[in-house]
Amino acid sequence: MKQIIQCQLNGKPVELVIDVRQSLLAALRDHGLTGCKEGCGVGECGACTVLIDEVPVDSCITLAVRAEGREIRTIEGESVNGELSPVQQAYVDAGAVQCGFCTPGLVMKTTAYVEGLAQSAGGCCQNGNKSGGNGIDRNDIRKEHAGNLCRCTGYQTVVDAVEKSIRYYGGQK
Ligand code: FES
Ligand code: FES
Repeated sequence: MKQIIQCQLNGKPVELVIDVRQSLLAALRDHGLTGCKEGCGVGECGACTVLIDEVPVDSCITLAVRAEGREIRTIEGESVNGELSPVQQAYVDAGAVQCGFCTPGLVMKTTAYVEGLAQSAGGCCQNGNKSGGNGIDRNDIRKEHAGNLCRCTGYQTVVDAVEKSIRYYGGQK
């Protein structure tokens, strides 16, 4: 059964025609936003991560109808006027991209993480220790990103990229 839903998609109001049984991942990809990937399709790998009202979700196991009236962020909305977001730039600078399949999901997860830290601490590097603030160390970053798998196993550079993102949001570029 078809249904029309309205939501904010990367900052713009949109109407999406969806099937009520359709996943958010499928609906977004049908809408041309193919940055979010289907890795496992069962909520295990995080390749499909998008933000709903700033909360990272596995869009493969989220029904598209849940987007009604919500704010959705996907990787396509992160660069502005051709400029990469700070988190995207950090992934590039750290060399944290190999085949790239997991990268959109990881970037969205990191974005929610560092923006959340910055909000809760009024800038996430106020205390200036360990990974650059709030006592966060590399194991904390690994735990926070445990739902995002990389088959190329470039995890060290991903953690480097998250550390760099944390420093950026704390004002230490
Ligand atoms: S494709 Fe959604 S969690 Fe793997
Ligand atoms: S870079 Fe290839 S799956 Fe992560």
